Amino acid sequence: MADALMIDGKAFAEKLRYEIADSVNKLKELHNLTPGLAVVLVGSDPASEIYVRNKQKMTSQAGMKSIEHKLPADTSQKELLTLIDGLNSDPSVNGILVQLPLPDQLDEQTILAEIDCAKDVDGFHLFNVGKLSTGTPGLIPCTPLGCLMLIKDSLGSDLSGKRALVLGRSNIVGKPMASLLLRENCTVTIAHSRTQDLAAECARADILVAATGRPRMVKKDWVKNGAIVIDVGINRLPPDEEGKSKIVGDVDYDNVKLVAGALTPVPGGVGPMTIACLLQNTLTAACAQNGVELTPG
Ligand code: GUN
Repeated sequence: MADALMIDGKAFAEKLRYEIADSVNKLKELHNLTPGLAVVLVGSDPASEIYVRNKQKMTSQAGMKSIEHKLPADTSQKELLTLIDGLNSDPSVNGILVQLPLPDQLDEQTILAEIDCAKDVDGFHLFNVGKLSTGTPGLIPCTPLGCLMLIKDSLGSDLSGKRALVLGRSNIVGKPMASLLLRENCTVTIAHSRTQDLAAECARADILVAATGRPRMVKKDWVKNGAIVIDVGINRLPPDEEGKSKIVGDVDYDNVKLVAGALTPVPGGVGPMTIACLLQNTLTAACAQNGVELTPG
């Protein structure tokens, strides 16, 4: 069997970002509107700092306004809630993202619930979570949205009846991914660390989305011949003898590619899609807040 088709998330995301930049231009010309995205980072977690820097760079490149709030690690809950209230009532801010994880003194659910759900470009507010699980249009979490775009690009837009397995049950990826696939009429299984006979569960799936945070966990014999495999993992391995540390996904790429039909690489697969979808959500939010409907093309 030929190797799996490598799904080029980087190229797909780049195209999407061009299309978004085009729409942003139209929004400026026709409606005198510039979408604004506020990103809040509390503390100095190195991985979060890199993500936030990338988000800001891409936001500006798409022609949107990027607003940054970097707060010290000992920021109190009250201080952060006050900042969010200010962003909620600022009309130049259309999207608000509070980078997770937060330091221990901050209650994540309380913070996320404070964000105006119309500006919740992460789709983490309970109202948007409820909309997704009831199939009501709303803001959808960026990583699962990006995964779905890649799946549809590979398999076509009709996913009805496909067996999908989501490995991982986080609020950020696993659960919303399962809701999205269910909305597409897939038969969805959510598997996790307590699932019995994980390999056999995975091997039934036509669509396998791995989001466990465990490097190269998904092995070749866990994957059905011809399945589409989406790898959400970004795991940094310990440095090798030359002191270089490699980033790998949750899927054993080199072996799984021998059986899968299509497979995302790490890096260059899902990662770039998350940021592109964040920009998409910011554009969607800006249009909705201003009663504007942009026609494609
Ligand atoms: N931390 C890891 N992924 C995400 C994400 O998609 N959004 C936010 N806000 N924080 C994250």
